[in-house]
Amino acid sequence: MHTLTEGRGLLFGGDYNPEQWPEEVWKQDAELMRAAGVNLVTVGVFSWARLEPEPGRHDFGWLDRVLDLMAEHGIAVDLAVPTASPPPWLGHRWPQTLPVDEGGHRLWYGSRNQFCPSSGLYRERSQSITTALADRYAAHPALAMWHVGNEYGEVCHCDESAGAFRAWLRERYGDLATLNEAWGTTFWSQGYGDWAEVVPPRRAPYIINPTQRLDWWRFCSGELLAHFREQRDILRARTPDVPVTTNFMGFFKRVDYWSFAGEQDVVSNDCYPEPGHPLTPARTALTHDLMRGLAGGRPWLLMEQSTSAVNWREHNLPKPPGQFRLESLQAVARGADGLCYFQWRASRFGAERFHAAMVPHAGADTQLHAAVREHGQELRRLAGVAGEPVPARVAMVFGWESWWALEDRGRPSDRLNAVDQLLSYYVPFFERGVSVDVVPPDADLSAYALVVVPNLFLVGDRDAAALTAYVNGGGVLVVGPFSGVVDPNAHIRTGRFPAPLREVLGASGEEWLPASGPVACRWDGGAAFQAESWTELLRSDGAEVVAEFAGGDLAGEPAILRHRSGEGVAWYVGTMPGPDALASLAGRVLADAGVSGVLDELPPGVEAVRRGEVLFLLNHGATTVRVPIPDPGVDLLTGSPAEGHVTLAPRAVAALRPEVALA
Ligand code: GAL
Repeated sequence: MHTLTEGRGLLFGGDYNPEQWPEEVWKQDAELMRAAGVNLVTVGVFSWARLEPEPGRHDFGWLDRVLDLMAEHGIAVDLAVPTASPPPWLGHRWPQTLPVDEGGHRLWYGSRNQFCPSSGLYRERSQSITTALADRYAAHPALAMWHVGNEYGEVCHCDESAGAFRAWLRERYGDLATLNEAWGTTFWSQGYGDWAEVVPPRRAPYIINPTQRLDWWRFCSGELLAHFREQRDILRARTPDVPVTTNFMGFFKRVDYWSFAGEQDVVSNDCYPEPGHPLTPARTALTHDLMRGLAGGRPWLLMEQSTSAVNWREHNLPKPPGQFRLESLQAVARGADGLCYFQWRASRFGAERFHAAMVPHAGADTQLHAAVREHGQELRRLAGVAGEPVPARVAMVFGWESWWALEDRGRPSDRLNAVDQLLSYYVPFFERGVSVDVVPPDADLSAYALVVVPNLFLVGDRDAAALTAYVNGGGVLVVGPFSGVVDPNAHIRTGRFPAPLREVLGASGEEWLPASGPVACRWDGGAAFQAESWTELLRSDGAEVVAEFAGGDLAGEPAILRHRSGEGVAWYVGTMPGPDALASLAGRVLADAGVSGVLDELPPGVEAVRRGEVLFLLNHGATTVRVPIPDPGVDLLTGSPAEGHVTLAPRAVAALRPEVALA
């Protein structure tokens, strides 16, 4: 990321699709970009058919001219390897490259993403277009980064994929007996006697074997990673100093981003917050924190966001004035060094004609484009933030394998979901201005005063042991319901639960009991609160009972427990407390950990986060607020001094640098 921001400051730009426009528009684009402060554009994401109109025949002339034009205007190019949308000739000549769904139906071209990730031919053709692009543009002065594919997430159930799945399983299990054991195939007469019988989880009459499904998720994610690595290696061999990225989609279930993250040079994300939802600011913040986690604490790039409405929801609300700026600055506050958009100029044709852009259909003489320009200029004033970290003393653990294993058919309740649990625990920290890092289950936790595990249904022995060691070494741990339930084969860990954590928790359970309605609970001080959907029959094995169930069959039984273990403290939450109760819980565990928010007092709706020495305050609420600030500072966005407090209108942002730093 540093090589990109050095000399440029924060990156600002978007997807640029000049192939949709006559060349006379390009010149105008370049000038408008320069005027708006654009310094990075992503080119060629969907250009394969233009670049290779028939197998092996390349047409690079137009792209040469685009890249030259960008170089002349001082705009860096994030050049895409166009593998996300193969040309029709690929599927037409070689239908086996087209993906097949669970029901055995082949999906056609005419849209995008129509490829089988395991197709040898698709993989070969991907490598050949990547090689051709890398050879041609390796030394081009505009080239600043490579963008492989787009939003990886494709899945295919065809016979070639089945073969690749079997090869992957052989590698994992060695022999069929081990596979049969791991998949628990004595259940429902599923024992495999020949490798040829093993297939992907295709459409079947009833619930499919959960371990088969879990391995399928692992395999599919791995195939996409293998495809990414093939392109990356070609690019790295030719341009070792040019960073390589692919754009993520936040909490996207199909791809284990922890496995991808270390394989790329820059972590980038596409973010389209749901307009008007009360939890959107927190959810977006959480997604940004995930990206920072994926980037190992280093800056990341917001590759795509929208200036206004998207076109793919049922009813596409526009963003009110000031909203896209607020969202962009939220990403800066949480560690983004680049703020890019989909897309530069709104398309006249194609499936995304009604998607907002940086230059709308009405042209540059519009309020929207004026706001884009202004935002580009103001980002220059934040150049000093580039490269700065967002320090956090709290970690939240989130893992894809556990997510996959949890959210399958045939479980006690589908109301307990991985990302919802994570978000509900995150919200009270967000509201108090406590920064949180999102980390994987095998993370090094030693730097954190508090570790929250909202749900970890699947946990490996080593990760469970690390959580235990963390507490005994002095950490504060919070574990949410239905955690530690299965092992990496998705087999239930027998005995009182959560089996691998019950010692450190000083508590254990014997039944998971989904509830028919709201669950009445009571804190140790007597105050009542409500939980939802989920209860567990628990007992203390040494832990103090902090809250108990207050009604129904579980009345008087423990709901939340706290246990001193070694030098630390471990909490277990055996229900799904509502927002107020989670806020109280957050207060108590933060007190245990000795962690507080960046400000003592934060009005509702205001997000506060420190990046480097700059304190960002963002008003997501609908009213003007007065935010008390401890130290005098200068608002980098306006240049105005601030002392005692700042006043923020709805959607306003302050980026306060402490005054002492001026000296
Ligand atoms: C992204 C995608 C872009 C564009 C955008 C529209 O998911 O990467 O190509 O389709 O959505 O919101």
